[in-house]
Amino acid sequence: QTGLITLDLGYKNTGATLSEITYLDGDKGELFYRGYPIEQIAEKSNFTEVMYLLLHGDLPTADQFNTFNGNIKKYNFVAEEMKKIIDAFPRSAHPMGVLSSLTSALTAFNPKAVNVNSKEEMDLAAELLIAKFAHLAAWTYRKTLGLPLNHGDNSLNYVENFYKMSFRQPNADFEINPVVVEALDKLLILHADHEQNCSTSTVRMVGSAHTGLFASVSAGISALWGPLHGGANQAVIEMLELIEKDGGDVNKWVAKAKDKNDSFRLMGFGHRVYKNFDPRAKIIKKAADDLLVALGIEDKALEIAMQLEKVALEDEYFIERKLYPNVDFYSGIIYRALGIPTEMFTVMFALGRLPGWIAQWKEMRLKGDPIGRPRQVYQGSQQRDYIDIANR
Ligand code: SDX
Repeated sequence: QTGLITLDLGYKNTGATLSEITYLDGDKGELFYRGYPIEQIAEKSNFTEVMYLLLHGDLPTADQFNTFNGNIKKYNFVAEEMKKIIDAFPRSAHPMGVLSSLTSALTAFNPKAVNVNSKEEMDLAAELLIAKFAHLAAWTYRKTLGLPLNHGDNSLNYVENFYKMSFRQPNADFEINPVVVEALDKLLILHADHEQNCSTSTVRMVGSAHTGLFASVSAGISALWGPLHGGANQAVIEMLELIEKDGGDVNKWVAKAKDKNDSFRLMGFGHRVYKNFDPRAKIIKKAADDLLVALGIEDKALEIAMQLEKVALEDEYFIERKLYPNVDFYSGIIYRALGIPTEMFTVMFALGRLPGWIAQWKEMRLKGDPIGRPRQVYQGSQQRDYIDIANR
């Protein structure tokens, strides 16, 4: 207490808004999308249906699903001029920086998605962005490889379409591997929303100034890029590769993570809200196991991850601080098995989180949340008079 306000660095205990979208119980390690347990949704639903659920509040009837799906297919293209923007980036540009720029640039080609105020206008902007974002995510990957940019294929479902736009090789037939698409679909579902995390709060904050949806999501992409947030999935694999190269001594690296004089942290471990196992990590760990067996892949990184998890979960330091594997700890194992390069992992997170960002932005606007403007505790200089430079 400073007499003025209660200091809450990092909004650790701030109730920033009222929401009906996602509920998570950090102590029990439970997560619900619009009241449905994540375990049931991951098992029984699909990513397009989850997008509808988050955006509209209920599971769609067959007609509602077909209309939603049809609208997304209607917008399943991106203006050719956008290719000139992506061409301007060096191949070495990190895909998250390219994705954030392209998402904001998309505004210029979709004026209807800028000044939206009614629910109908917001739903249109949402369907436009959902359809076009799959291209942008696929194109950021193709850019890193210098491959031609593919347009969408409306004969496929949303995830198959993204997968084909990303991986179809020039002048070669392309086969959709159902095992791969199923793993991707599940991963995207598990990343779809997570209440007021850093990137979603960013989308809400930017949107609270009545900034358009595309530019608000572009800001969320930048927040997600950080290694303490969505960028952790890339950092986890880089950490596992480092430990493998260093001889695989997980005890040494767990000790480093505990050492306050060492900046090393166990990436993919710990969470602001979950003080128990992240329910998504449990589902992803099983999906990773199943996928590696289905594809006949032996991945040393998975072995090291499981050893790390075992050692950490038995260690006083991690137990005391309630540090468990989070959503990012195992997701990279799956992306790697699918042939997705490390620098694309966080783009996959962004593709998954897109419906959550949009649903939260829409809810904030429809509920009329005021512009975000938190206060501070001032610790700078007290009042003083200006001194001319000659006298300084
Ligand atoms: C995501 O919010 C969300 O919902 C996010 C997310 C989503 O779906 O949107 O779930 C996605 O971002 C998951 C988190 C991915 N990030 C990482 O895996 C990076 C590694 N984790 C940490 O940096 C950390 O755990 C955070 C950032 C996730 C949470 O940080 P907090 O809540 O600010 O906790 P803290 O930094 O204050 O840590 C508390 C204590 C500290 O020790 P003490 O000062 O008490 O001695 O735990 C320690 C920390 O040093 N600690 C760790 C650790 N995480 C916390 N020590 C070693 N390794 C770690 N990973």
